[in-house]
Amino acid sequence: MRVLGIETSCDETGVAVYDTETGLLADRLYSQVELHARFGGVVPELASRDHIRKALPLIQEVLEAADTSLQEVDGIAYTAGPGLVGALLVGASVGRALGMSLGVPTIGVHHMEGHLLAPMLEEHPPQFPFVALLVSGGHTQLVRVEGIGRYSLLGESLDDAAGEAFDKVGKMLGLDYPGGPRVAALAQHGIAGRYKFPRPMTNRPGLDFSFSGLKTFVRNTLEQERDALGAEALPQQVQADVAFAFEDAVVQTFVIKCRRALEATGLKTLVIAGGVSANLSLRAGLQAMMEKHNGQLFYAQPRFCTDNGAMIAYAGAQRLAAGEKDGLELNVKARWPLNTLPPLGQKSI
Ligand code: KG4
Ligand code: ZN
Repeated sequence: MRVLGIETSCDETGVAVYDTETGLLADRLYSQVELHARFGGVVPELASRDHIRKALPLIQEVLEAADTSLQEVDGIAYTAGPGLVGALLVGASVGRALGMSLGVPTIGVHHMEGHLLAPMLEEHPPQFPFVALLVSGGHTQLVRVEGIGRYSLLGESLDDAAGEAFDKVGKMLGLDYPGGPRVAALAQHGIAGRYKFPRPMTNRPGLDFSFSGLKTFVRNTLEQERDALGAEALPQQVQADVAFAFEDAVVQTFVIKCRRALEATGLKTLVIAGGVSANLSLRAGLQAMMEKHNGQLFYAQPRFCTDNGAMIAYAGAQRLAAGEKDGLELNVKARWPLNTLPPLGQKSI
């Protein structure tokens, strides 16, 4: 089965063609980062308009790259949520219209299920069951995964998502949006031990997270340093040391909580997914922990960690191939808990 996937939940227009027999045929991504950068974050109305401009040309491009025609497409998957409603509506409308005109089934995919399954696109995919750490700009969740659509939530962030915390710290350091990758790059020049930040909620039981206190700690540290130096602009090394301490606190928090989740479930496989799973220090920290734990760590290649069309094409293809499809109602959702999804093949229209 050949599926066209369309992702428009936030500030990236992503499209891909996935074939259940031969794998990923092609994918294309258009990032709106430059459009939103001067506002310091995503402006929803601008995002929707840009998705409208880019969706069809990108679909044409990806079909050509996949050496396939619309007539050879057997199904269409689009992101139905969670995300910005106006942006989601663009992908949903385009997907629905194409599906109707071609007479093929369409399906609305859960964005976080897309992220969660992205490591399945790799040469050595993880085997179920596993523990998944989902870390994106909007979500931070630990999930026990028995199979596609069989998710139980083990823990989640009570406030900011990890990516959001990275982005806010980026802003405090005067870095451009999105701050995550820029904070990570700056942290590489940081010296360990200059600052020690708290590892939130690790000294009590449970698998929930909280990042807003850590964010405040960073803000206070920067203010103290500015006061001490009597200058608004901090030396590059101080900025790098703060970035390092922040990233290290986030990574160690995840290491502790993931180890705890593996112990609680008795599982030996850990999957990390979502934009923050592209972070190299996080990967290294978790890899070291998994080696000690005699377990295995899986993640997607960096371009499939952040938003992309391939993960939506893949997740949609699994569900369409299992006989699922959507009805005619418009079904986009700003909020949509992952654990309310039906097990594979059990979705009724
Ligand atoms: O999954 P994603 O592309 O979009 C959402 O579904 O939210 O995640 C985007 C988030 C942003 O907050 C971005 O700053 C963060 O992932 N991110 C990173 C890195 N790359 C992306 N955070 C830390 N280190 C990175 N290398
Ligand atoms: Zn995402």
